[in-house]
Amino acid sequence: EPTLEAPPRGVRPVRFTATARDAGSAARAGRLDTPHGPVETPAFMPVGTQATVKGLTPDQLREAGSRMLLANTYHLALRPGEETVAALGGLHRFMAWDGPILTDSGGFQVFSLAQRAKITDHGATFRSHLDGRLLELTPERAVAIQEALGADVAMCLDQCPALPAEKAEIARAVDRTIAWAARCQDARRRPDQALFGIVQGGAHEDLRGRCAEALIAMDFDGYAVGGVSVGESREEVRRALDVSVHLLPEDRPRYLMGVGRPQDLLDAVHAGIDMFDCVMPTRNGRNATCFTDAGPVKLRNAAHARDPRPLEEGCDCLACSRFSRGYLRHLFLAREMLGPILASIHNLAYLHRLTRRMREAIRAGRFVQLRLDVLEALGP
Ligand code: GUN
Ligand code: ZN
Repeated sequence: EPTLEAPPRGVRPVRFTATARDAGSAARAGRLDTPHGPVETPAFMPVGTQATVKGLTPDQLREAGSRMLLANTYHLALRPGEETVAALGGLHRFMAWDGPILTDSGGFQVFSLAQRAKITDHGATFRSHLDGRLLELTPERAVAIQEALGADVAMCLDQCPALPAEKAEIARAVDRTIAWAARCQDARRRPDQALFGIVQGGAHEDLRGRCAEALIAMDFDGYAVGGVSVGESREEVRRALDVSVHLLPEDRPRYLMGVGRPQDLLDAVHAGIDMFDCVMPTRNGRNATCFTDAGPVKLRNAAHARDPRPLEEGCDCLACSRFSRGYLRHLFLAREMLGPILASIHNLAYLHRLTRRMREAIRAGRFVQLRLDVLEALGP
């Protein structure tokens, strides 16, 4: 139940502990303790936009290796509404997921989905992409919605400018992101929900630095790197990481938002990131594109028609342990719903296995070599 007082300082609803550090990079392995249990890091969070990771049951997610999920404030506030979720016992009970959940704040979705979004210092106004209703999302409202949903981790409302953008425009977004973060911090009432700040600033070292410094002074439970999930090249993602991550405190989790290509995960962990989310494994899976250590496999290709082998040799996921490439291809060509489900399960299992290999390599002091080996096998 929400309390009326702001939570006491120094009591952290989630705690991060680094348990191993790599000698040749900034990579670290650790544990995030949350009200719904621990998560080993580096960790990948599947995206459950509508309080469901598309096509998968909670048991299938857990079996694929998922430990912490992401859900979206914007979608759930519009439908069914956060009060309905709260009336049905909160997000965990609502979606029958008893592990940790993180909710994104909605700002990013307003700009990508809503119609005629207008932004002022007060907040964002926009029309619902569902029914055209005029709505407002302020920092206070973003916190109130996320507290009603009841995730373990909430995110600050931020402004992520559409790129490419002039530096002056990115600087204004940074100022607003800082001001909104302070209002989010003040609006908190739940002692059992963590709040992460989001570093914006594009590829500009000074802007990222200014944003990180201001957020760190507000003492968030964790820090995210935002503004790098809109189709950037690997080099651009690496640059944003290079100028952001080293500024962030060692004892707080670091989360790279919206990034899920295997190559990007390897680069980000190398730079010191602990958490990720991305629609890619499930979205690509629904489109018959699957991650493997030899690079992407497109299941619709005729080459797989009579291939009796699994999608990936040695993968212990449901798709690979029971079915052939030929059968999976057949499911997609026949438009059977099991195809997208099995491909999504495999892609999630692939990313969770990749994060496990990274954790083990960090602990064994061979992360740099693992990264080079996997990058080489993945190809360009
Ligand atoms: N998801 C991917 N990138 C971002 C970002 O910059 N901000 C927020 N709030 N969510 C994101
Ligand atoms: Zn598999």
